[in-house]
Amino acid sequence: MIAKEERRLRVGVLGAGPIAQFAHLESCVKARNADLYAICDAAPDLLARMGATYEPRKLYADYDAMLADPELDAVIVATSDAYHVPMSVKALEAGKHVLCEKPIGTSVEEGEALAEAVKRSGKLLQVGHMKRFDPALEAVRDFVRDEMGEVLALKAWYCDSTHRYTNTDAVQPLPVTSKQARKPAGNPKADLRQYFMLAHGSHLVDTARFLCGPIVAVRARLREKFGAYCWFVETEFASGALGHLDLTVAVRMDWFEGFQLYGEHGSVLAKTFNPWYFRASEVEIFHERTATTHKPLGADGHFFRRQLEGLADAALHGQPMRGADVEDGLASIRAMVAIARSVERGERVELAAVSGAV
Ligand SMILES: NC(=O)c1ccc[n+]([C@@H]2O[C@H](COP(=O)([O-])OP(=O)(O)OC[C@H]3O[C@@H](n4cnc5c(N)ncnc54)[C@H](O)[C@@H]3O)[C@@H](O)[C@H]2O)c1
Repeated sequence: MIAKEERRLRVGVLGAGPIAQFAHLESCVKARNADLYAICDAAPDLLARMGATYEPRKLYADYDAMLADPELDAVIVATSDAYHVPMSVKALEAGKHVLCEKPIGTSVEEGEALAEAVKRSGKLLQVGHMKRFDPALEAVRDFVRDEMGEVLALKAWYCDSTHRYTNTDAVQPLPVTSKQARKPAGNPKADLRQYFMLAHGSHLVDTARFLCGPIVAVRARLREKFGAYCWFVETEFASGALGHLDLTVAVRMDWFEGFQLYGEHGSVLAKTFNPWYFRASEVEIFHERTATTHKPLGADGHFFRRQLEGLADAALHGQPMRGADVEDGLASIRAMVAIARSVERGERVELAAVSGAV
């Protein structure tokens, strides 16, 4: 068991659905500097089951009641996308820090409203872009910052697999479901272009920004064929680096995610695994100066727990936030909207000019 530190963030998880069960509840229990203080879910059966399993101090069926609890320090918003902004704003206004699942919202305006709310509150909001806490990707980020020099180009790909549920069913616990779970009206999978972009594209765009900084414009093409969606996105970074992003859902092969990064003083090749293996990426960092390759192990691949520990370090000890902040979350939305508009119009789209929904 991971040893607990003396000062710990008291966390309430909003939503006891699949993402909470697969990632956040265990992360709170295992985190060195946080505790699972409360669970809140409108579904009483789910709340009771998760309460019995994870034994938080408090159980709440009502979100406002949880937010009114003065002992609570922070909320993990683990609900469907449509609720991210309203539930995060409520938590911030109640004086709580927030870890909000990705994407923070579904439109530029929603992201902007959340950014305003974060500023007004003076509280921290970290976006659940947990890949930033993959220890091998952290090593790449350090290499880019300290040694690689100018970035020439990034080619990154995120290709979901037709066999992903066979893989994940084999490794994940059986999810507990409830007919009483609160869901937004309508079917989120009604528009698959939008659904895949929000669910998967948000990760790809954030990884690109994490490694290469702000994206200023995109030119995207989409091919839909035999139920597969393939986006090729020519990406312009503010640094001048060239980018090519490939989002494909789903490839007729194993999960395929990674990147090639070419720099002035070295290069990186990376292979990222299906996140539910909790396994750090395999990266080869090539140092031009010594003509050697370095492969960090990244033994602790629990990026969901590590992202919570990052937020708690910032909230409790004033350390700089290592995760994606609300501006990063907003930039991800802008990039996804720009990709959608570029596909529709067949032209280059600048991120600063976009508005509306993905
Ligand atoms: N980081 C990742 O890699 C990753 C992977 C999968 C899913 N996700 C994200 O997780 C989210 C979906 O999670 P899910 O599938 O567990 O969602 P879900 O909708 O199945 O479950 C959410 C739960 O929250 C409860 N809830 C919602 N609003 C509430 C309220 N106001 N008060 C009380 N309870 C409330 C519901 O009753 C439900 O049980 C999405 O945003 C998705 O993008 C992230």
